[in-house]
Amino acid sequence: MSDIFTVAGLHAGYGAGDILKGIDAAVPQGKIVTVIGPNGSGKSTLIKTLAGLLPARQGEVRLEGRRLNELTAPQRVRAGLSYVPQEYNVFRNLTVLENLKISLEFMGGARTSGGAVLSDELLALFPELPEKFRVRAGALSGGQRQMLAFACALTSQPKVLMLDEPSAGLSPKYMADIFGAVKRVNGRGVSVFMIEQNATEALRISDICIVLANGRVRLCAPAAEVAGMSDVHSLYLGDARETTPPLGEAA
Ligand SMILES: Nc1ncnc2c1ncn2[C@@H]1O[C@H](COP(=O)(O)OP(=O)(O)OP(=O)(O)O)[C@@H](O)[C@H]1O
Ligand SMILES: [Mg+2]
Repeated sequence: MSDIFTVAGLHAGYGAGDILKGIDAAVPQGKIVTVIGPNGSGKSTLIKTLAGLLPARQGEVRLEGRRLNELTAPQRVRAGLSYVPQEYNVFRNLTVLENLKISLEFMGGARTSGGAVLSDELLALFPELPEKFRVRAGALSGGQRQMLAFACALTSQPKVLMLDEPSAGLSPKYMADIFGAVKRVNGRGVSVFMIEQNATEALRISDICIVLANGRVRLCAPAAEVAGMSDVHSLYLGDARETTPPLGEAA
């Protein structure tokens, strides 16, 4: 299985000292890779660096073999890498339709030949969106707003979709809807790189799990394997200290 998206030796940070201290990661073509880890371990910093919002101080990011380091955030979107931030991912004072139009306009997406804002593919993925076209995004439920953010990110027809905690703050019902949508998007051939705190639910739809701790990859293993670990909670609740031996290596 070839990797569509690779990260090698990545360092990044905000001031003196690096938050990310040499990250290696890869998304195989068509797979879902989920990153878990304690609060403050650098998950959002990683995704922001990959999206081009924070410069890499060392290391390399490649999409389909093409080096992305020198590309701006919008250029990365046009190269096929889309990103949904955890917060502020839609314009709340604009309607659903206006949000979609802006995404099309500024993210390099193309309208359908009939001029429709939603392609048949996006309509099939998010059939409930048209009836909300005139609703202000701020008036949607958290789950609906997240669906809109997904749809906006998909207007550019990305090869890799990056999601920062898509289920954060949602009730269990909406959480299931969100992960169902991620799975459906992935079913259309979009590879996914997702950060999640709801590890048990996220790992159910994931192929690979990466555990981040203190800006380093602590573990990278098949999602089913990580989900089955008796101490999976400690991996993202803050017990995954650098000083403990890597899982799997302990007797
Ligand atoms: N804009 C910023 N300026 C300075 N430091 C920052 C900034 N954003 C994050 N940090 C610091 O970088 C570290 C990693 O933060 P990051 O947001 O990447 O963690 P996270 O794993 O996403 O945490 P959470 O689970 O809480 O979302 C933290 O120590 C944080 O205080
Ligand atoms: Mg975060």
